[in-house]
Amino acid sequence: MIVLKKESEIAKMREAGRILARTLRTVSESIVPGKTTLLDLDMLAERLILESGAVPSFKGYRDYPAATCISVNEVVIHGIPTERVLQEGDIIDLDFGVYKDGFHADSAWTFPIGTISPAAQRLLNVTRESLFQGIAKFRVGNKIGDVSAAIQKYVEKNGYSIVRDLVGHGIGRDLHEEPSVPNFGKPGRGAPIKEGMTVCIEPMVNEGTAKVVTLDDGWTVVTADGKLSAHFEHTVVVTKDGPELLTVE
Ligand code: MF3
Ligand code: CO
Repeated sequence: MIVLKKESEIAKMREAGRILARTLRTVSESIVPGKTTLLDLDMLAERLILESGAVPSFKGYRDYPAATCISVNEVVIHGIPTERVLQEGDIIDLDFGVYKDGFHADSAWTFPIGTISPAAQRLLNVTRESLFQGIAKFRVGNKIGDVSAAIQKYVEKNGYSIVRDLVGHGIGRDLHEEPSVPNFGKPGRGAPIKEGMTVCIEPMVNEGTAKVVTLDDGWTVVTADGKLSAHFEHTVVVTKDGPELLTVE
């Protein structure tokens, strides 16, 4: 069942999203190449979220052990923060969830650490733009398949592959609600988009093969060929005037 949200509920998600966006920016700005570890970032994010009167959505979701997911280079998504030190040239996906007043927000951004290769920069640019291509189709009168197809088309046109094993999702009182929002598909298919729908659109884009492998920890998803992957995610609501990003400051 797809739960449409009323304005008072959207306001709560907007507040969770604002806290999330501020935390994401502050945490990204704290990174010192050759020094900062993934655990440093996870602990900072958790502290900032708690200080904002909110709770990290991910900690304790199923058996997830940390406040954040941090995925470096060939890690696609759901990287568990470790003592790994970030190095110049890495790309790092910070994926945070914030729960406040009964509602979740979920957003991710892949950042360059210092100077990165032109190839890595192009992957970031294309993945970020594919998210916005999808968001532009998230409007009343369209179907979820229109969002999916726009993302896939943009990514493949640029020579990259879309991960198919993981997809975007509805969000609200639960972190994961209906509908699924795949990053591939056909225009005109899937659920009709209605006013008050809240979803996470989150393309995961690989340099090489679309194939991914989950490590023995049960969470960390890596590219099957060890090549780079990027991930950008926003929580978005449909208004009668079009899509509104909820995970912004
Ligand atoms: N943005 C990711 C998702 O929606 C975050 C996963 S949360 C975790 O799948 F708790 F499962 F880690
Ligand atoms: Co998500």
